[in-house]
Amino acid sequence: MARIKIVSAPNALEAGKAAAEQFISLIHDKPNAVLGLATGSSPLPIYNALRDAVAAKRVSFAGVHSVNLDEYVGLPGTHDQSYRYFMNENLFRHIDIDIANTYVPDGMNEDLDAACDAYEQIIEDLGGVDAQLLGIGLNGHIGFNEPAGDFFKRTHIVELTESTRDANKRFFASIDEVPTHAITMGIGTIFDAKKIVLICTGANKAVVLRSALNGPISPHTPASILQLHSDVTVYADEAALSLF
Ligand code: GLP
Repeated sequence: MARIKIVSAPNALEAGKAAAEQFISLIHDKPNAVLGLATGSSPLPIYNALRDAVAAKRVSFAGVHSVNLDEYVGLPGTHDQSYRYFMNENLFRHIDIDIANTYVPDGMNEDLDAACDAYEQIIEDLGGVDAQLLGIGLNGHIGFNEPAGDFFKRTHIVELTESTRDANKRFFASIDEVPTHAITMGIGTIFDAKKIVLICTGANKAVVLRSALNGPISPHTPASILQLHSDVTVYADEAALSLF
């Protein structure tokens, strides 16, 4: 089993900067890289560091394509809680990527199964993902692959658990407005990425990070599958690593 590389940083900002450097080196090596991107608060320091690197002309995203992990069902890209909106506001509009080369699953498609198949086709046509960025949910989910799901699914529709809806309700006016379903790359899709970059920060993630990296490999902790991937780097702060 390949060893997961853990990069420890004093805080979330430094963890984000270190992870950003891995993406910058990848783009230097492969200017037309396909990046798998993620939403949530954990990736924000990475996106800020990438914005700074583009502004300083240290890197260019002109040849890069991106595919995002997941999207809520029923929220248009103009909704401020949609993941398309998040990506546009926090990264894409600040860097030199061609917006036409950025993909987020289509949670508004009337035929959601067709939207899932189309997303898999986009990834295949791009030649696969060179490096997939992941955050981790408090229950060990990656993307929106909730515990006890199938390890080998491709892009599919999921019903969100109450705990995930509860964790995300802070961004909505009330829990009733939090979507009940999402479209997400499956673990099978994620696992096919050539490299995986996991960002995990904050004391509240310490328990789940320990189960993901050192616990049994089980669909009850979806992120535990990463123990079987050949190229995973975890960027974590001291708070998240406090139980190691
Ligand atoms: C959401 C996203 C995940 C993300 C998780 C943790 O549920 N679908 O991709 O990893 O939240 O988010 P945060 O980084 O804000 O803790």
